[in-house]
Amino acid sequence: MTEKLEKLLKRVEEFNPLNIAEVEEFRIRILGRKGELNDLMEEFKTVAPELKRELGKQLNHLKNRATERINELKQKMQAASTASSPALGDMTRPGDHESLGSRHPVSIVRNEIVSIFSRLGYTVAEGPEIEDDWHVFSALNFPPEHPARDMQDTFFIEKNPDILLRTHTSSIQVRTMERQKPPIRVICPGRVFRNEAISYRAHCIFHQVEGLYVDENVSFADLKQSLLYFAKELFGENTRIRMRPSYFPFTEPSAEVDVSCNLCGGKGCPVCKGTGWLEILGCGMVDPNVLESCGIDSKKYSGFAFGMGVERVAMLKFGVKDLRLYFENDVRFLHQFETAI
Ligand code: PHE
Repeated sequence: MTEKLEKLLKRVEEFNPLNIAEVEEFRIRILGRKGELNDLMEEFKTVAPELKRELGKQLNHLKNRATERINELKQKMQAASTASSPALGDMTRPGDHESLGSRHPVSIVRNEIVSIFSRLGYTVAEGPEIEDDWHVFSALNFPPEHPARDMQDTFFIEKNPDILLRTHTSSIQVRTMERQKPPIRVICPGRVFRNEAISYRAHCIFHQVEGLYVDENVSFADLKQSLLYFAKELFGENTRIRMRPSYFPFTEPSAEVDVSCNLCGGKGCPVCKGTGWLEILGCGMVDPNVLESCGIDSKKYSGFAFGMGVERVAMLKFGVKDLRLYFENDVRFLHQFETAI
């Protein structure tokens, strides 16, 4: 029996499994209820009493050693299986969350404005942010003493000849008219710069979308209808608009356009300051002087133009109360627009 015990001990010590399943199989074969150790226990019962002491010791040692070794091997195999295939690991664990970026609210609204006007046949035109005096002011009928030409309102890069950061994207409309013969139907999105103190309602950088339509017999009624369609598309079918007389050097007549407040439906609330109306854009019939400056015959052609601030429209659409949030890139703010794309 000693020989059997020694053989089994040797097998235990030399056992070299490939995986955890083999260890478990081995455990059942040796230590299991019908295992080899149990057979030896049965045999032990039959040995002569004078041998029992020594054999009992050996048997105990074998049992302890086998248990120890099997546990050891189990641990080793477990560690190896996670280390060698990290991609598998625990298949029931929840996956790692890949956090996706989201579009900036200003981009969302700009894209929406552009897409509404492209359905009306407008194409997108772009132009430089650094401009000259002609395209930003002179061609647009700004008189020489106009306050926008003042350093206080405009960022100048050079003086005489004046090079400046565009204060509106109307400069793109000038460039388009200089290049293209009517009919012209363009929408001009872009970043603009004004020398303003930064507050919750003003910033020195913001975005505009302006539009221009020049053709024969373009009338104020066309302007009104186009803007009504735009307002309904942007804020909902029940939206109404109203026009208030205004002034811009490059349009005559000029108007400011209000839309009925989409929050209270026109009844009056804190957002519309109790008036039921929200101001969203400026517009008017292109001044004949502007057409002539750009080489378009003002006797034959007429046109309308409009322009709006994207941040302002986004504020109204999303209920953002502080304009500075758009420029801070705080992810807690930006994440809120993940589903608005
Ligand atoms: N350019 C004007 C502005 O920046 C907006 C505007 C565009 C008004 C076209 C009328 C017509 O405020």
